[in-house]
Amino acid sequence: MSSRCRVLAVVNQKGGVGKTTSAVNLAACFAASERRTLLIDLDPQGNASSAYGVSNPPQQIYDALIGRHSVKEVSVSTDLEFLDLVPAGPDLVGAEIELVSALNRERRLEQAIDDVRESYELILVDCPPSLGILTLNALTAADALLIPLQCEYYALEGLARLLETTELVRAQLNPRLELEGIILTMVDLRNNLSRQVETEVRRHFAEKVYRSRIPRNVRLSEAPSHGMPILLYDVHSRGALAYLELADEILGRIGRADSTTEAGAPESASTPMGVSDERPT
Ligand SMILES: Nc1ncnc2c1ncn2[C@@H]1O[C@H](COP(=O)(O)OP(=O)(O)OP(=O)(O)O)[C@@H](O)[C@H]1O
Ligand SMILES: [Mg+2]
Repeated sequence: MSSRCRVLAVVNQKGGVGKTTSAVNLAACFAASERRTLLIDLDPQGNASSAYGVSNPPQQIYDALIGRHSVKEVSVSTDLEFLDLVPAGPDLVGAEIELVSALNRERRLEQAIDDVRESYELILVDCPPSLGILTLNALTAADALLIPLQCEYYALEGLARLLETTELVRAQLNPRLELEGIILTMVDLRNNLSRQVETEVRRHFAEKVYRSRIPRNVRLSEAPSHGMPILLYDVHSRGALAYLELADEILGRIGRADSTTEAGAPESASTPMGVSDERPT
């Protein structure tokens, strides 16, 4: 068991861009490569939970955020030996309101996961489509962000605001927060616009954009209704292969960053978020 745990927030305030699909399937791929992984559903919609066949959980992330239970108490095991899940349910809507006036309201998740950091190598947090208090909790608890981006006309809209919010969190709450990488989702290579948007995103964010792209693949959209990640639903599908490749790329980069840091090199040679100062418009 590694004592070095990396907390990754899967975030984009734009709805329906593939956050949950990426969180659910990357978590499965990490677990399949025997990395002890915890997937935290931080969205009242509970999509990451139902993608693992969990609905109406008796205890959930809400209980951990308000301090009623520990994360360990609210986590459940999955069909994958190396993967546990902290489910969410509609109660979490209440947390949005209750936490507004609570002490240390942005640090609830950070505090809650503190005592499980030793037990996992990777913790993935699936965020809701907003920059509200739940996402702020994820950004405060995280070491880095994974941003899924759908290659469509308005893809870059909102990204500037997300990066500004991230800079505020870095300045005020969590100086270690980095951009882990940008995931291109629902890619359709036959579509000109999709290719143009990809070129634009790669121009702005350079090596922060993963080489592996997630294609539009119907098997990925079917898997959640069977309560399974794509690896268990159809391991030979294009979607499964894409997420396996992406997971490898992410793990490879984390591994390289770890060995550079251990060798005493600076953690980031460029700007804090590792991207050019020029922001997309
Ligand atoms: N690569 C893909 N191919 C086909 N369908 C996909 C793909 N990725 C996601 N989808 C489908 O697109 C829809 C939105 O995806 P998903 O729920 O992952 O987005 P999200 O960003 O988590 O949404 P929300 O903002 O509501 O939380 C879902 O129906 C999902 O099954
Ligand atoms: Mg979602």
